[in-house]
This record gives sequence, C-alpha cells and structure tokens, in this order.
Amino acid sequence: MSPAADGSDIIKAIYQRRSVRHFAEFSLGRETVLELLRAASWAPSGLNHQPWRFAVIRDPGLKDKIAGLTRYAATIRGASVVIPVFLDREVSYDYVKDCQAVGACIQNLLLAAHALGLGAVWIGEILKNKDRVIEILELPARLELMAVVAVGEPAHRNQQSHRRPVEELILLER
Ligand SMILES: Cc1cc2nc3c(=O)[nH]c(=O)nc-3n(C[C@H](O)[C@H](O)[C@H](O)COP(=O)(O)O)c2cc1C
Repeated sequence: MSPAADGSDIIKAIYQRRSVRHFAEFSLGRETVLELLRAASWAPSGLNHQPWRFAVIRDPGLKDKIAGLTRYAATIRGASVVIPVFLDREVSYDYVKDCQAVGACIQNLLLAAHALGLGAVWIGEILKNKDRVIEILELPARLELMAVVAVGEPAHRNQQSHRRPVEELILLER
C-alpha cells in the first residue's frame, strides 16, 4: 500500500480533483490500475460487505462497443483504461446503503487517479444502457452497472468547476 497521505494532502486532493474528459495517448500499467482499484476498495461499506466489482477494459474493440452506448463516446475511446463499476446484488444486503458504498468507492477511485497525476471522469449517462454493458462484457446478470470510470493521462489540466457556497447548503444550524 502507498504511504499514508497526511490530512492536508487529502483536503488538497478533494479540492483540486476535476473531471477529466480529454486524454492524451498513454498506456497505463497494470500495477497502476491495481493501485487505483485497491484505493477504491478501501471505501467504507455497510457491514464491510464491499459490494463493488470492477471490469478493466483496454481492448480498443471492446472500448468501442461500450462507447457506442453513451454520448461520452469520445471520452471512452480516448481513455487508457475504462473501468465499469458494478454492484454485486448477491452480496447486497440493503440496496440504498450498497449503492452509497459503491459511490464512495468510485470517489476513492477518482481521488486516487488524481493523486497519481492521472485524470478520470465518472460517467453515469451510460446507465440508460446498463444491461447492454453487462451483455457486451458477458458478465452475470447479478451485477448492476453503477458507473463507468474513464481513466488516462489528461490532455490538459485547466478544467474548471464550481460549487455553491457551503452556507447555502446548510438547512439547519442550531
Ligand atoms: C452520479 C454522477 C454521474 C455523472 N455522470 C457523468 C457523465 O455521464 N458524463 C460526464 O462527463 N460527467 C459525469 N459526471 C461528472 C460530473 O459532471 C462532475 O463531477 C461535475 O460536473 C463536477 O465537476 P468536477 O468533477 O470537475 O468537480 C457524473 C458525476 C456523478 C457523481
């Protein structure tokens, strides 16, 4: 495992991470992908059931098939690695809690990619075709697609985003 980051590194990564949708030509080594998935799998989960499962797609033909299921096709095709993230219904004990856990796992993956100098984006739009993804990958129907994460070397690093001021988000403070 990587050396533990101190608290300020984590806060910095949370603020500096941006969704990256354009990638440079780059080959991502298997060890790096395993590091991303290991970090993802250290997310919290209800009863520590760890309901997440991953596919790792590098094959251009397979990427192309997945790209055909989303309007983020160019992002999928341009990524070094495409990682569909699933909920395994067989180990699921509470649907909402398990979906929340997979969400935490995806956020870990994004932050880990950022920490390693990579770029990534969470693609949810493809969920309109979630069953097709399972069919194309020839995976069992007990899996439910939660997102596809595209990972690669950012083509540039000037992504911008914004957030509402936190004061607007607090509904009650007593
Ligand atoms: C559930 C979810 C679904 C998303 N789906 C997509 C998507 O389909 N395509 C995409 O480009 N970005 C997608 N995003 C990324 C958001 O657009 C992005 O996080 C948001 O605009 C804030 O930008 P930032 O990540 O750079 O801070 C998704 C994010 C989440 C959490």
